[in-house]
Amino acid sequence: MKPRIGIVGTGETVGIAHYHVLGLLADGRADVSAVYSLHPARSANFLREHGLENARVCSDFSELLDCVDAVDICTPNFTHIDYVLGAINADKAVFVEKPLALSAVDSLRAVKALQNKSLFHMVGFVLRYAFVIQELRKLVQNDLGHVFTFQGSYGGRRLANPAIPVEWRMIRQYSGSGALGDFGSHLIDLAYFTAGMTFDAVSGMATTVIPDRPANTQGITHVENDDQAAFIARTAENALATFTVSRVGMDDLKILIVGENGLARISLTTPDEIFYLPAQNGTYSSEPKIIKIPAQKTFEGWFITQMKAFVDGLTGSKIDVPDIYQGHYVETVLEAAARACSSEAVRVAPVEAHSRFNSK
Ligand SMILES: NC(=O)c1ccc[n+]([C@@H]2O[C@H](COP(=O)([O-])OP(=O)(O)OC[C@H]3O[C@@H](n4cnc5c(N)ncnc54)[C@H](O)[C@@H]3O)[C@@H](O)[C@H]2O)c1
Repeated sequence: MKPRIGIVGTGETVGIAHYHVLGLLADGRADVSAVYSLHPARSANFLREHGLENARVCSDFSELLDCVDAVDICTPNFTHIDYVLGAINADKAVFVEKPLALSAVDSLRAVKALQNKSLFHMVGFVLRYAFVIQELRKLVQNDLGHVFTFQGSYGGRRLANPAIPVEWRMIRQYSGSGALGDFGSHLIDLAYFTAGMTFDAVSGMATTVIPDRPANTQGITHVENDDQAAFIARTAENALATFTVSRVGMDDLKILIVGENGLARISLTTPDEIFYLPAQNGTYSSEPKIIKIPAQKTFEGWFITQMKAFVDGLTGSKIDVPDIYQGHYVETVLEAAARACSSEAVRVAPVEAHSRFNSK
């Protein structure tokens, strides 16, 4: 029998559930058999749009738990932890979108709930499923040697439009941090996945550049969390990572990794290649190598590969996925980064007569 998957949260803003369903349908080895979200009529539409009329629209989460083998959580961040705990306690496999929780105290609850359970669990760090990232990881592991530096930038452009009203992701109690958690969570995971980096210290800054937007349905106009953040992190081996994230305009994902045997960089603007500049005993070659990557549709293609991994796990394959333990690690780093970003920054002494930029 095919595993039965229940989706929680069918989508209103980005609507990530749509991409999950595209992936599950492309894979075909599991059934989307139930959905639950705040608006049953919209959930019914969602099912119709995907040709899933046979799936059930549940009126609460426990009804969904009763008729599925696995839960796929695509709701706003603040709801994740309760649904994850509910699924684990009901012995259901679980996929949860990132970030796992709003705090490390909460994500630890999920880790503890897994004790004495043998459930498959996965967190939605979808960028691991971009082919160029998977090939970058192989290159770093096989060729780059000891890693010194990781540089990553990632973000989005949709919310650069100040006419977009306040969304749940701009309100602390629903989202936690803003761009920091949204995009930073992916980069922290990627620093681990591609370069094996885990961090023991962070520093950073975050700002809100569009503090007021049109009112949402609750009449809220004020943006409470960061639009952009930059933070740095250090490993116990003294490697350094820098991260720049923004939801108000950012280039496609870019990563540079420098190790003792050279440097490698990727950009999702050109996802079909890796730029690799080898070095031998610290002497850099003048001949870069361009490593070609198989074609994959941006975004949609990553989700197809990610949901295939989810179904592999559900059907008993032993595979390496970003799991709840990794989700907790990422949350721990994010929390430290958020604290660092809200700490007093070192002030720069004012410099007189230094306002020539833009002056006519
Ligand atoms: N992996 C990625 O690249 C990526 C991209 C976008 C979003 N996400 C993550 O996906 C999640 C959902 O984001 P989105 O933009 O798709 O959200 P969305 O606003 O489009 O949809 C959220 C859905 O959850 C439902 N919902 C809200 N509160 C609920 C509750 N308490 N119980 C049940 N349903 C509830 C809403 O009705 C809606 O259907 C977020 O955690 C976000 O961080 C991940």
